[in-house]
Amino acid sequence: MCSTQLFSFLCKFLSNMSNEKPTLSYLFLPFIFVFQISTAIDFINSDQPLRDGQTLIPAGGSYELGFFSPSQSKNRYVGIWYKNVTVQTVIWVLNRENPVTDSSGLLTINGDGNLVLLDREQNTLWSSDITVASKNTTAKLLDSSNLVLREGNSDDARLIWQSFDHLTDTYLIKSRYGVNLKTGEKQRLTCWKSENDPAPGNFSLLLEPKGQPQVFLYNGSRPIWRTGQWNGRTYLGVNEHTSVNLGLNLINDIVEGRMYISFSRINNDSYIPRLAVDWSGKFKISVWIKRIKEWQVISSEPSSTCHVYGTCGPFGVCNDMGLPICRCMKGFGVKSVDEWREGNWSSGCVRLKELDCERNGGKYIEEKKRDGFSKLVGVKVPDLNDWVPADNATICRDECLKNCSCVAYAYVSGIWCMVWGRSLLDTQELSSSDGLGEELYIRLAHSEFDDKVKNWKVIIIVIISLAIIILVVASAGIFWRHMAKQRGKKKKIQELSKLGSSQHTPRDYPDKCLLGDAVKEGKQCELLLLDFYSVARATRNFCDENKLGEGGFGPVYKGQLADEQEIAVKRLSRSSSQGLEEFKNEVALISKLQHRNLVRLLGCCIEGDEKMLVYEYMPNKSLDFFLFDPMRNALLDWGKRIYIVEGIARGLLYLHRDSRLKIIHRDLKASNILLDAEMNPKISDFGMAKIFGGNQTLANTNRVVGTYGYMAPEYAMEGRFSEKSDVFSFGVLLLEIVSSKKNTSVYHHEQYLNLLGYVWKLWNEDALLELMEPSMEDPFSITQVLRCIHVGLLCVQECEIDRPTMSSVVLMLGGVAPLPMPKQPAFSLRRNPIESSTSSSNDKTCSVNNVTVTMIGGR
Ligand SMILES: *[C@@H]1O[C@H](CO)[C@@H](O)[C@H](O)[C@H]1NC(C)=O
Ligand SMILES: *[C@@H]1O[C@H](CO)[C@@H](O)[C@H](O)[C@H]1NC(C)=O
Ligand SMILES: *[C@@H]1O[C@H](CO)[C@@H](O)[C@H](O)[C@H]1NC(C)=O
Ligand SMILES: *[C@@H]1O[C@H](CO)[C@@H](O)[C@H](O)[C@H]1NC(C)=O
Ligand SMILES: *[C@@H]1O[C@H](CO)[C@@H](O)[C@H](O)[C@H]1NC(C)=O
Ligand SMILES: *[C@@H]1O[C@H](CO)[C@@H](O)[C@H](O)[C@H]1NC(C)=O
Ligand SMILES: *[C@@H]1O[C@H](CO)[C@@H](O)[C@H](O)[C@H]1NC(C)=O
Ligand SMILES: *[C@@H]1O[C@H](CO)[C@@H](O)[C@H](O)[C@H]1NC(C)=O
Ligand SMILES: *[C@@H]1O[C@H](CO)[C@@H](O)[C@H](O)[C@H]1NC(C)=O
Ligand SMILES: *[C@@H]1O[C@H](CO)[C@@H](O)[C@H](O)[C@H]1NC(C)=O
Ligand SMILES: *[C@@H]1O[C@H](CO)[C@@H](O)[C@H](O)[C@H]1NC(C)=O
Repeated sequence: MCSTQLFSFLCKFLSNMSNEKPTLSYLFLPFIFVFQISTAIDFINSDQPLRDGQTLIPAGGSYELGFFSPSQSKNRYVGIWYKNVTVQTVIWVLNRENPVTDSSGLLTINGDGNLVLLDREQNTLWSSDITVASKNTTAKLLDSSNLVLREGNSDDARLIWQSFDHLTDTYLIKSRYGVNLKTGEKQRLTCWKSENDPAPGNFSLLLEPKGQPQVFLYNGSRPIWRTGQWNGRTYLGVNEHTSVNLGLNLINDIVEGRMYISFSRINNDSYIPRLAVDWSGKFKISVWIKRIKEWQVISSEPSSTCHVYGTCGPFGVCNDMGLPICRCMKGFGVKSVDEWREGNWSSGCVRLKELDCERNGGKYIEEKKRDGFSKLVGVKVPDLNDWVPADNATICRDECLKNCSCVAYAYVSGIWCMVWGRSLLDTQELSSSDGLGEELYIRLAHSEFDDKVKNWKVIIIVIISLAIIILVVASAGIFWRHMAKQRGKKKKIQELSKLGSSQHTPRDYPDKCLLGDAVKEGKQCELLLLDFYSVARATRNFCDENKLGEGGFGPVYKGQLADEQEIAVKRLSRSSSQGLEEFKNEVALISKLQHRNLVRLLGCCIEGDEKMLVYEYMPNKSLDFFLFDPMRNALLDWGKRIYIVEGIARGLLYLHRDSRLKIIHRDLKASNILLDAEMNPKISDFGMAKIFGGNQTLANTNRVVGTYGYMAPEYAMEGRFSEKSDVFSFGVLLLEIVSSKKNTSVYHHEQYLNLLGYVWKLWNEDALLELMEPSMEDPFSITQVLRCIHVGLLCVQECEIDRPTMSSVVLMLGGVAPLPMPKQPAFSLRRNPIESSTSSSNDKTCSVNNVTVTMIGGR
């Protein structure tokens, strides 16, 4: 009748307990039975017995008592179940060990007033077994689920027996399950033997009232789980959220001499909790959800190996996230390495250094050399604690120090000063789902702390002396090499000046250091100040053969310095607005930017109006040379492309963030990405704006056409530049690298002005793979390609605010985390220039969206 619900419930249940064996799917089957048409009665007395098929229902109608059979058994038992719960759930069994083998069972009051269960042959299978004064007794099921036997018929007659005193596997909400402090009698919840047999099994739950009360789950007589100490509000090892939400309380009724578990949240029709010990050895808390008609398991303990009592043995600490899960506390060592290695941690750990207190017979010889404490945070504190009165943590600590047998203390809100006098058993580092845990202070010999300091000192001294030695050796080496080089150089320069005398007036200008000290002092020259003659000589008098290209700032020539180093010389055609000293200073600053993805500035040359910059030479030209040539772009497979993209991203990030100067490139484009012999990308022309006098918006107005496609809208239209305008250029470059197409090249679709518009169209049509070069269609790289395009689209969004920073870009490219959705790119629609400039103010009201891309870094 409720089989589908039941099935879905079991599925859900199973998925909750992934670490359990599938056989547990039968877990709740013992409580599911076929309803029988039955007649209900109100009470049982000698005249009115309860026969198999009849049920006893209390006035409130929440529970029902009658005969039932566990799922695969034919035996008949008398039990109580919820009347309202559609998945019949037996919460109490009368004759756990002596079932009726047929349907002849009879629950009645016998001649001496006891409640008895009789079979066909009138054998007593079960009896309440008390001496009753009055033989005129009545049994009734109360609304609280309590089956009571009273002397007489009235509700206020003396109660002589009740089922609440004989709980089976389930905690009954109003039963006041716990301990009778006067007699010391403890109530025990005992599991069923198996799904078909309600006889008592090996697992039981017990409230231990001694010290700080705790609830224990036992396997036979061995504890396998504990809640942790009760602190007046919650149990220290139980997720506070769960227990407080459940209203799970511990009541210490001093007047009546009872300590018991109670629920503060009862009497709620839509909320039926069930706490039961399972025959598989779990203590489960579940809640009946009326709306979906299912039992939902809230907690099932022990839920992990670390929750199992004493997994790591004495002085071990268990952490479910650890590898292995057990480790020894600080100052303790593994007791049995072999067992430990085999994963049997139960032997635990032993103290490595005897406590000073013990060694000196309970006294400290020197006050200074007292034992110390090491702190362990976020733990379920160990079992077997004692308690001493103390007003604050300092006093608690002193109390522990005073007593030589105290091995640890903790000052816990609600319990206050806890001390441990034996071993520390069942200490667990709690995970976030278990709660916050407490701070535990473990007593250690003074020398444990001493040694640490000494060790550190030794390590630091060794490191420092090693560093000094390495430094001395290295600088000596550099010095000697440098001296040798300089000697050779001078010789060559002298030779060269003799050679060049035929073309130039023989002026012997030795190269000078612009940065770093004079050559003769033997130090590294960071930036060369070359004389015009040497540069002319190196570039063979700027002959056309040596011309590499015409950059935005003037022609670039290949050259070879006297020491055979290859260089690229940029002969700046525009006069700088700066004075000579300022120019030198800027060049000096720029030359300090050194990164493997930046072209290195080696020096400069200033001679009258002539200004030149000397760079390292890049043999493989620039990226556009490969990218936009249909023949050559086949040389760039996907691996090289992503390598280039990542290199550019890192170079740009360095310019934006990592360097001392914050440099905005402002003219990032494919022709400014140079490639060295290993095809490493290197950004060139950075810092030109700085060199050319700071805040000029455009270095060369006649270049606008050439780089228009790379310029961010706010830069192109308002001259406003920022890191984000570089990000825009990077995005364009990224899309170009993926597609091998120039942003500004014309497309067939009339409505699409440029590459950005085209990519945006493909994005919306979910056809991004059309963008890929056929040569790149390697199945393994497709997700990476799509990710690159996605990042590219994020970079070219209209609003600066929406674009990611370069640091996010670097993380995005290397990561796998989901990316935010891009908005429409700038310039993606063909627009009338006039229209676009007038509408720009409305169009570009950037919505401040709160999507921040936070990603876990690392690659
Ligand atoms: C038992 O109690 C009922 C009601 O209290 C009474 O009517 C009946 O006479 C009593 N029987 C005996 C044997 O006391
Ligand atoms: C209970 O434990 C005993 C021994 O400790 C074992 O023989 C028996 O099979 C166990 N019973 C169940 C139901 O696990
Ligand atoms: C029962 O519990 C539900 C959900 O927690 C709550 O909304 C409702 O008010 C409670 N009813 C009573 C009578 O406490
Ligand atoms: C069970 O249902 C009855 C009537 O349907 C209602 O009066 C009672 O409060 C319910 N009890 C529980 C525990 O849900
Ligand atoms: C309970 O103890 C028995 C032996 O005493 C053992 O075989 C069994 O695995 C234990 N069960 C659990 C759940 O700890
Ligand atoms: C683990 O070691 C203890 C002794 O240290 C031993 O009693 C126990 O049987 C071992 N358990 C297993 C599973 O090997
Ligand atoms: C702890 O209590 C003692 C005595 O009540 C007091 O002298 C001491 O200052 C307290 N320490 C702290 C840290 O509050
Ligand atoms: C020292 O501590 C142990 C263990 O906590 C306790 O049994 C003993 O009574 C204490 N001794 C004194 C003098 O407090
Ligand atoms: C890059 O330059 C190196 C050295 O000049 C050369 O060996 C290599 O073939 C070049 N790579 C490409 C793809 O042209
Ligand atoms: C450049 O910036 C400086 C200060 O940052 C300012 O004084 C100067 O006017 C600016 N020059 C131009 C051309 O905007
Ligand atoms: C963005 O965040 C701010 C502050 O955190 C908040 O006040 C605002 O409502 C958020 N806006 C949106 C669109 O979520």
